[in-house]
Amino acid sequence: MTDHLIIGSGIAALRAAVALAGAGDVLMLTKAEPREGNTGYAQGGIAAAIGRDDSPSRHLADTLAAGDGLCDERAVAVLVAEGPRYVRELLAWGAAFDRGADGQPSLAIEGAHSVRRVLHAHDATGREIGRTLWTRVAPLRNVLVHPHARAVGLIVEGDRCAGARYVAEDGLVTSARANRTLLATGGAGQVYRETTNPPVATGDGIAIAYRAGAAVADLEFVQFHPTALNMPGQPRFLLSEALRGEGARLVNGAGDAFMARYDPVGDLAPRDRVSRAIAREAERTGAPVFLTLDRLDPAFVHARFPLISEACRRAGLDLARDLIPIGPAAHYVMGGVVTDLDGRTTLPGLYAAGEVACTGVHGANRLASNSLLEGLVFGARAGAAMRADAARDGWAFDATSASAMETAGESEREGRGRAAGTAGEALHADAVRDLMWQLVGLFRDARGLRDAIAQLEPLWRATCARLQDEAAPLDADGWRTASLVAVGRLIARAALRREESRGAHYRLDFPERDDVAWKRRIMEGRHGG
Ligand code: FAD
Ligand code: SIN
Repeated sequence: MTDHLIIGSGIAALRAAVALAGAGDVLMLTKAEPREGNTGYAQGGIAAAIGRDDSPSRHLADTLAAGDGLCDERAVAVLVAEGPRYVRELLAWGAAFDRGADGQPSLAIEGAHSVRRVLHAHDATGREIGRTLWTRVAPLRNVLVHPHARAVGLIVEGDRCAGARYVAEDGLVTSARANRTLLATGGAGQVYRETTNPPVATGDGIAIAYRAGAAVADLEFVQFHPTALNMPGQPRFLLSEALRGEGARLVNGAGDAFMARYDPVGDLAPRDRVSRAIAREAERTGAPVFLTLDRLDPAFVHARFPLISEACRRAGLDLARDLIPIGPAAHYVMGGVVTDLDGRTTLPGLYAAGEVACTGVHGANRLASNSLLEGLVFGARAGAAMRADAARDGWAFDATSASAMETAGESEREGRGRAAGTAGEALHADAVRDLMWQLVGLFRDARGLRDAIAQLEPLWRATCARLQDEAAPLDADGWRTASLVAVGRLIARAALRREESRGAHYRLDFPERDDVAWKRRIMEGRHGG
């Protein structure tokens, strides 16, 4: 039995571990190598209102505008007010963010920010933050890190989470019993065929929390980053929005800068709008869309973006001179496991922080570079809450946000779609990812969503049955598929339910935002602590 179990080892997990220094035993399980996860790939930076022309209220306004009317304002207020303190703490701990001639951190601008507020370490900000946090966690004598340990389920006793089951390298399912468990398992980009996310990002935390009865919300909102490398045979490497912040432009095959025709804000409009504009322009012209840095000094480009330059070079392209073919790819899931402002979920004993959590800060669309900040701020808050709850042996989920949500039941239409479904047991991970990309991607409609649900539902039921069968444990591929199916199904169900377009969720059959019917959030699972 351990005091605190942390599942994951990205920014949220690490910052929580720091908050738990000296507070009893901490066991950290992580699925792959400890540094593998979205954090290590983060490029553009971390947003915080530290500039002279900036303020938390300005950061709040930008975040709410990007979130398209669905952010939890209390959570955003915490994020922007506490963000500068936690970012300064990283600087004090030695984070080597780029600095200007005045010695102050240099601030970049990305889509939908009204001022420069993104601290960065060239184009490898996540790696630098991870390095910094590991220097704090590694010496902690109460923290034990267990790599290559995949959490596959939560132990629920009575009404309470009592730890997790995991599969270690020997392939055996083992129990890690704990008084308090933090899910910090990151994102779910792998649910889609085209994604910027690494292979570990399969949404496991959402799947296992939902199976254990915790509430999840906002899953219809999946962010598609507009500019992932789009070349046959090449990985969908991210081309950071910071490139456009420095003057890179989107052009079509004829070399025309097209964004202004789609959006008055142009190249730096919120991601959802830029992604849809790129897809429409590619469809209109029948040709790829490109990023060009032709107006920038090549020496600056290579020095400022060394990682991206190198990735382009490996693909046979010169970032500074060539037209770089790009297209949208699944990047970030705004929804996740519902938490209060201190990381408590609706299942007593279970906390969540980082991309797996749904604090409500992102609403329908995340503002660029707010995710690292969320992991940092809410990772610290979750760790502090675990510590405080342990000291008083208490649990008090603040249901204020959750009470503003609607609980999704099974709609009649979903039922019909399911009845029309075939036995989906044969569907494997790649087929699920294809299906999600085609039917539950950038553009959605009721017909495609019902089709997706009809294919996913029988597979979900088969997976649930299989998980009960202790005689036939799943292998690594099986666990991966189980997560993709569970999360894909939840995304598709929420997307069908939301009959409007808002933020990253775009319905061809309901193209307008509908504040009368839909200024509310969709939750599945248990409500209240
Ligand atoms: P992660 O860093 O993804 O960590 C999750 C951890 O959980 C990993 O260690 C993983 O192995 C582990 N794990 C997963 N499942 C299990 C399991 N079943 N059992 C045990 N362990 C498990 N955001 C920004 O704010 N700014 C940026 O510039 C930026 N750039 C990005 C660029 C790329 C290419 C990508 C993919 C994302 C980017 N993001 C950016 C988003 C941001 O990086 C992530 O949202 C954030 O790092 C998530 O942190 P996390 O701690 O929640 O999860
Ligand atoms: C990027 O660098 O474009 C990614 C930033 C983010 O996801 O916030």
